[in-house]
Amino acid sequence: MLFDTRPKTKLEDLFDRIDERKAFEDALYNYPLVIVTGLRRVGKSSLIKAMLNELQEISIFLDGRSLYSSSGGNITHFHLISQIESELARVSLKYKIVKFLKELRGVSIKGNSITLIRKELDLSSLMERLNEFAAKNGKNIILYIDEAQYLKYYGSRGGKDLLTLLAFIYDNLHNTKLVITGSEIGLLHDFLKLSDYESPLYGRAYSEICIEPFKRKTSIEFLKKGFAQINLPVSFDIEEVVNILDGIPGYLVLFGVKYREFLDVKEAIEKVFNYLSGMISSELKELEKRSPRYLKILKHIAAGVDSWAGLKRLLIASGDIVGDSRLYEALNILQQTSWIKKADGKYNIVDPVLKRVINGISE
Ligand SMILES: Nc1ncnc2c1ncn2[C@@H]1O[C@H](COP(=O)(O)OP(=O)(O)O)[C@@H](O)[C@H]1O
Ligand SMILES: [Mg+2]
Repeated sequence: MLFDTRPKTKLEDLFDRIDERKAFEDALYNYPLVIVTGLRRVGKSSLIKAMLNELQEISIFLDGRSLYSSSGGNITHFHLISQIESELARVSLKYKIVKFLKELRGVSIKGNSITLIRKELDLSSLMERLNEFAAKNGKNIILYIDEAQYLKYYGSRGGKDLLTLLAFIYDNLHNTKLVITGSEIGLLHDFLKLSDYESPLYGRAYSEICIEPFKRKTSIEFLKKGFAQINLPVSFDIEEVVNILDGIPGYLVLFGVKYREFLDVKEAIEKVFNYLSGMISSELKELEKRSPRYLKILKHIAAGVDSWAGLKRLLIASGDIVGDSRLYEALNILQQTSWIKKADGKYNIVDPVLKRVINGISE
């Protein structure tokens, strides 16, 4: 069903994305490392989950965002191992990995259940063993790390220990593929540091797939199909809705869900915005923790101030005496976190819904 707010996990539920599916599959079998980027709620996780399910490879899923929030922003070996442990439990339902892991230090097997002993387990040995299992069975292990920019908060060295593990996997485990996503595109690259020669992953070749919002026509088709699936006649102008919500599938899904509930377009759109401002304001709070300046800048940009000079003038007028390098840094962070984009020297919020939500936030 299209109007389901969780990431899709089956191809039959994935709308369109024909080119992206092919690009993903090609990348997966031609590169040890595939990076999938795109705005929040554009459908990165859906594409990957549906494809991995289809390709019948053995996937191990690590969720950067949930690791970050469940650890209170300080991800340790303990948190990481816990997630891997539950992934192994899931995988072992389908594949006979239990026997294969028996002899490994740090792995305790009782019946069919696998317990990882945090202090003893060496992750690279575990990955090595899983890789061997995959090779023997004509499969690949896909280590899929979602919203990986959060893993910068792993350990005490900005996630470097994890990058070392990824580099080991990349170089040595030929039946293991790395699939890494991030909504905060600049931060993701900042974490992976593929072009920083001091980084463990330096110089490795990779394929990057950027998922774009749906084109206008696809968005309209998406809504039509979604409503047809739930047998709800469309008695309003779908184009009007797409004019407002644009092409991020996550927003369209939300609209579908809310329309089904309230049977009123205006109210449904209103609810979409309410929901998103809730979601976005928690993300904004994270930003504000770093500096209240970010929200101020976002609000100015949302209101149409698109130049460096204009932003500087307004900040100073509001009593924030910001220096050039500080303003530069703040704008840089906002670009890295995908809140804004700079094109032809002008700053803009690309996502029109985000723009509207920010415009509606009172200080
Ligand atoms: N191609 C698609 N077909 C159907 N639903 C989609 C598609 N892409 C995204 N969605 C829906 O949009 C929402 C956000 O998708 P998700 O995959 O979680 O995005 P991301 O991982 O980029 O944040 C989910 O409700 C998901 O089901
Ligand atoms: Mg996702």
